[in-house]
Order: sequence, then structure tokens, then C-alpha cells
Amino acid sequence: MANLNPLHFLDRVSTPANMLIEPAPNDEQLTQIFRAAMNAPDHKHLQPYRFITIRGEARQALSEVFINAVTIRKPDVDPDYLKKQGQKPLRSPLIVVLVAKLQDDPKVPEIEQILCAGAVANNLMLANNALGFGSIWLTGDNTYDDNVCQPLGLASSEKIIGFIYLGTPKVKKPNRVISDLSDKVIDWIKPL
Ligand SMILES: Cc1cc2nc3c(=O)[nH]c(=O)nc-3n(C[C@H](O)[C@H](O)[C@H](O)COP(=O)(O)O)c2cc1C
Repeated sequence: MANLNPLHFLDRVSTPANMLIEPAPNDEQLTQIFRAAMNAPDHKHLQPYRFITIRGEARQALSEVFINAVTIRKPDVDPDYLKKQGQKPLRSPLIVVLVAKLQDDPKVPEIEQILCAGAVANNLMLANNALGFGSIWLTGDNTYDDNVCQPLGLASSEKIIGFIYLGTPKVKKPNRVISDLSDKVIDWIKPL
């Protein structure tokens, strides 16, 4: 198992998808990343999520899925826009589609299951960063389009949480400046 560097949990930044190049995490690293992702808080441990990896030739197939979905959504689409949509999946060596698997549960409403899947996404990106790789979480209209969800094999109870693009950053962006905490954190005391 490769070592996760805890310091990298403090310096995650997103890398634009077209700045993510080979190599992407290998299978052993991906296993470690998915295990870290699945360690997210999960009410009743429903595991309301799953991952779809898309790499190599499959990215071309996703490109065709995007082009088809956009053409149906926007019959008068500008050809340049359509071309850009088709190029999206080809920008990075690996895409993880994070899917929320929503379940009927009397104690865990849908919002908690979606929040869990969001926490899974963030854990995934932190672990990926800790292994020295870059990522970006992207959505957009294709995310919520049945003509994308269906070819990806989603059931009607499933939703795409995001397309997480992974690879090695061509250039490491500077760390984000975390703003002053004073307007974000209050120390609550009992009201008079
Ligand atoms: C649910 C979700 C969806 C997002 N979708 C997009 C997107 O479609 N396009 C985009 O440019 N950024 C999107 N972002 C934002 C980027 O992933 C990223 O967080 C942002 O560019 C800020 O960069 P940073 O993470 O380095 O601060 C999304 C973030 C979240 C949490």
C-alpha cells in the first residue's frame, strides 16, 4: 500500500480537467482511494453510492454519449459548443462518476444519502491528493440528463453526484487562501 501523506489533506486544490495528464492513479492506488472515500460518515451504513470508472477508449464512448444528450437537449445547438461538450471526457486520463444510490429508509432521508455521497466525493479527492494526484469535481447539465444516466447504467433511484476527473497535475496550482474564520465560526452561548 502506498503511503498517504497527511499533510496533503491541507493543500487540496482543484486542477482544471485539461491540466490533468497521465499517469492517473493505478489500480492499487485506486483501491486505496475508494477505501478512503467509503470511510465517509454514513447514517446506518447504507452505502448510498457507487463508483463508475471511465478510462482509455471508454472516454470516447462517454464523449459520444455527451454529444447525443446535448443534441437531444438542444436541437439547434451551436456546432462549436457541441464539439466542446464531446471533448470534455477526453481531457483527463480517468473519470470517476460518483453515483448516489438512493434507498427508501425510514430513518435516513434522501438529503442525508446525498450528503453522504458528497462526503464520499470529498474523501475520494483528499485521498487522491494525498497520493500526489490532482482532481476536479464537475457537474453541468449532462449530469442530470437521462440520456447520460441511462447509457451509464443508472437505475431510476440513482443520481450522478459528479464527474470527478483525475490525473497528474501538469502544473500544481498554489494552495487556496482560506479566508478569515471570524464570519464563519461563532461560539454559541446560552441566550439570556
Ligand atoms: C457539487 C459540485 C459541482 C461542481 N461543478 C462544477 C462544474 O460543473 N464546473 C466547474 O467549473 N466547477 C464545478 N465545481 C467546482 C470545482 O469542483 C472546484 O471546487 C472549484 O473550481 C474551486 O476550486 P478549488 O476546489 O481548488 O477551491 C463543482 C463543485 C461541486 C462541489
